[in-house]
Amino acid sequence: MTTEAASYPDLRGRSVCVTGAARGLGLAMATAFAHAGCHVLLLDIDGGELDRVRPPLAARHPDRVIATATAPVNDEDAVAAALADFTARTGELSVMVGNAGLSANAPSLDLELGRWQAALDTNLTGVFVCARAAARLMRDGDGGVILTTSSMYGVTAGPERAAYCATKAAVASLTKVLAVEWAPHGIRVNALAPGYVETDLVAGLAAAGRLDTAALRRRTPRGVLGRPADIAHLALFLASDVSANITGQVMVSDGGWTADGYAVTPG
Ligand SMILES: NC(=O)c1ccc[n+]([C@@H]2O[C@H](COP(=O)([O-])OP(=O)(O)OC[C@H]3O[C@@H](n4cnc5c(N)ncnc54)[C@H](O)[C@@H]3O)[C@@H](O)[C@H]2O)c1
Repeated sequence: MTTEAASYPDLRGRSVCVTGAARGLGLAMATAFAHAGCHVLLLDIDGGELDRVRPPLAARHPDRVIATATAPVNDEDAVAAALADFTARTGELSVMVGNAGLSANAPSLDLELGRWQAALDTNLTGVFVCARAAARLMRDGDGGVILTTSSMYGVTAGPERAAYCATKAAVASLTKVLAVEWAPHGIRVNALAPGYVETDLVAGLAAAGRLDTAALRRRTPRGVLGRPADIAHLALFLASDVSANITGQVMVSDGGWTADGYAVTPG
């Protein structure tokens, strides 16, 4: 995974929390922030996976804090406690990346309300809880950057994705509200909105014949799926002072998928 960031804006010494960081895009972003010189807190509900991914990252960066916390993102007390522990070691929180999310894809007529609620709890309430916990610390300090995670499915739609699309659209809206409300505190808030990204999970599903990535590529104007590094680099850009005048935006990285109104959704 290419998440080296030697030529990127200087983020050395910043303190960054990434949620959903045990795998996938969250791990790619946490790794990129560490490579860019940041202290990093990897927060995830999956403590076992955090225990597996932390040692190599910490060994590569012995000069900075590489911490983990096991917590559900919608548990306000647990998130606040994790951030308190982290900032006790780093002195501040500069960046929060609210990345944890899940899909609950099913025909809308059949979708169980439990799965609908789980998507709301993680994708929307979790983002709000983590953003607010971060903003409380940033407001008392020098401000900061909050990144939420929407999706291209927050700005467009697909069948059997009622919970996913609704929560990701809500995240896009929430991002704008928080950006406007917290700008006076020096806090910028922007949303990452990836298209299909070839994470290990996606590659595994494709290898098992459960996801037709060739059809997804044909549907995408650029003809490729996104790479985790594409999203990690977007996060570095938005976290850095290079993007100081950007707030309240939903930054879509989808190879042209949402721009193309002529395409046919793959079956
Ligand atoms: N991969 C893609 O193609 C893609 C595209 C668009 C948007 N996204 C969004 O990007 C984010 C990351 O996607 P991914 O593909 O890396 O997902 P993933 O399933 O590979 O990883 C998600 C991580 O979040 C953690 N998590 C789930 N619920 C949690 C909770 N309640 N509290 C704490 N941690 C929790 C999981 O344990 C897991 O480690 C999600 O919000 C997803 O909706 C992904």
